Amino acid sequence: MKKVLIAGATGYLGGYITKELMNNSYTVKALVRSLEKLEEKNIEVSEIFQGEITKSDSIKDCCKDIDIVISTVGITRQKDGLTYMDVDYQANMNLLEEAKKNAVKKFIYVSVLNGENLKNLKICEAKELFVEQLKKSGLDYCIVRPNGFFSDMTEFYEMAKKGRVYLLGDGKYQTNPIHGEDLAKLCVEAINDSKQEIEVGGPEILTHDEIAIKAFEALKIEAKITHIPNWMRISILKIARLFLKDKTYGPIEFFLTVMAMNMVAPEYGKHTLKEYFTKLKMSDKLNENDSIK
Ligand SMILES: NC(=O)c1ccc[n+]([C@@H]2O[C@H](COP(=O)([O-])OP(=O)(O)OC[C@H]3O[C@@H](n4cnc5c(N)ncnc54)[C@H](OP(=O)(O)O)[C@@H]3O)[C@@H](O)[C@H]2O)c1
Repeated sequence: MKKVLIAGATGYLGGYITKELMNNSYTVKALVRSLEKLEEKNIEVSEIFQGEITKSDSIKDCCKDIDIVISTVGITRQKDGLTYMDVDYQANMNLLEEAKKNAVKKFIYVSVLNGENLKNLKICEAKELFVEQLKKSGLDYCIVRPNGFFSDMTEFYEMAKKGRVYLLGDGKYQTNPIHGEDLAKLCVEAINDSKQEIEVGGPEILTHDEIAIKAFEALKIEAKITHIPNWMRISILKIARLFLKDKTYGPIEFFLTVMAMNMVAPEYGKHTLKEYFTKLKMSDKLNENDSIK
């Protein structure tokens, strides 16, 4: 069976990919910076390579005997003081150098839907610069371009819990977010798929209004939605660009941009948002009961 190196195993998507690989009997080596986090998240692997992917010396030979590399490494909520260029670009370049040195058979990289058209955004600029280098590397590759993850839809749920959801525009923009478990299946299938680029979203295409309503329905409370006009979004972006550092501005820039456009990708998977929001509600209830005890 092929031996796979997964970089990003301690993250949301990487955790699901690792599980999917193990369930499919691959030999899995995880490249992680924190052994504690891997343990905490109860992620089982065949082998562990501990290293800081941002520091090339520390990941030397991580790809020895590896057939396939999968990387989901990128900044989402991390607060390490690093930029997208340091992580989404340079850290993945460090891994690509190791993959080339050890002549791995394929490198699978998770970018973002429409990244190639949104290179004006800091996050996409860094990711797509890496994509260009991967394409030129001489290795077989697959670039997975997913839509937003269910983990990000938690924001809708959290706003609904406070009684009101704020949406950019008139709420009619469409999207099909995808659950990590579904996306992990596709990433593992990509090992034996000849496609070099795959765009993917979840099975339901929904407007932002419909997503908000699903969150209110799961909470069983009346839906209250406020639509923020476009001029206000542009003003917030301009002010944020003036006053915030790149590492803080980047996620805001990405969020305020993709939430003001249609983001629809070919549909894949089975998990629904109704089921996701209902699970969030159930875990809230369990936490409440625990705090009462
Ligand atoms: N969330 C979305 O809606 C979405 C949509 C499309 C594409 N994507 C992309 O998909 C990828 C995976 O997303 P995710 O939600 O699974 O992200 P995540 O949970 O934050 O996982 C990201 C992984 O990158 C690692 N990482 C980040 N900064 C690092 C650093 N300075 N040094 C070493 N490792 C570092 C993290 O390691 P630690 O666990 O040690 O922090 C983690 O393993 C990301 O590149 C993201 O941009 C996300």
